[in-house]
Amino acid sequence: MKSIFITGVTSGIGKVVLDICLREGFQIVALIRNEEQKKLFDETSQLQLLVCDLEDREKIQNVLALLSKKKLDYILLNAGLLNYGEFDSLPESSFEKILEVNLLVNMRIVHHLLPEINKNKTKLVFVSSIVARMPCRKFLSYAVSKAGLSQFCSSLMVEYPHLQILCLEIGAVNTKIHSKAGMELDSSKFVRADIIGKRLYKAMLSKTGIVTLRWQWYLLRKCLMVFEDVLLYFMINFLKFRDKK
Ligand SMILES: NC(=O)c1ccc[n+]([C@@H]2O[C@H](COP(=O)([O-])OP(=O)(O)OC[C@H]3O[C@@H](n4cnc5c(N)ncnc54)[C@H](OP(=O)(O)O)[C@@H]3O)[C@@H](O)[C@H]2O)c1
Repeated sequence: MKSIFITGVTSGIGKVVLDICLREGFQIVALIRNEEQKKLFDETSQLQLLVCDLEDREKIQNVLALLSKKKLDYILLNAGLLNYGEFDSLPESSFEKILEVNLLVNMRIVHHLLPEINKNKTKLVFVSSIVARMPCRKFLSYAVSKAGLSQFCSSLMVEYPHLQILCLEIGAVNTKIHSKAGMELDSSKFVRADIIGKRLYKAMLSKTGIVTLRWQWYLLRKCLMVFEDVLLYFMINFLKFRDKK
């Protein structure tokens, strides 16, 4: 029986992966943000829920102490949040929060559990974003957090080449992440969370390295990387021109 620790299971991609893992008979430890969210799940011998807000640096230590006693086959660090707005319109606390949840807590988890990860050959799976590769307006701190996460993953891969690490750089998915950030957009045009959740699960079992889960995202990522400086030049000049009008 395989075992997994997952964060961010209350909605979106994480919820889909949790449901698949339940069906596949995984032994699961899932992290939720508060007691209230326990109602969303049937806690059984197969599913253990840990309550902790990932921003809470003290409480996360209790989670880590508990996790270090478990033999985990997979750690899926999926929880994340978005903030939306011009940089100067957002309070300092908003980008600290984004960096904590999307990047720093993931680094803390890996740092703390590294001896167990090594011993148990645990596979690490991170959910980053394609925005890690592009300059973003109104998503600045989100893009910084995901660029940091992608860099963390690739640096971990070279620092510990024997570890099994998968970094997912995915594009827009139809989840609540955008509305939670107060964005008004029609996210039904984005790819369905169940499709991406299923692909993530398959990739988790079979792949390592950086994976995008869709060929369209693969091409976009490649273009963004190859034409990074050209793209930046055109974006800046186009936006200057548009703002002048
Ligand atoms: N949707 C996209 O377009 C997209 C694109 C690229 C990458 N991603 C990444 O995919 C991952 C999953 O996001 P999603 O789209 O499935 O969004 P989602 O439906 O909003 O799910 C995010 C999950 O993270 C949890 N979370 C957020 N902040 C937390 C905190 N402080 N403590 C504990 N849990 C916290 C949320 O819990 P609550 O229910 O308590 O908020 C929720 O379970 C994220 O890392 C996101 O950045 C998403």
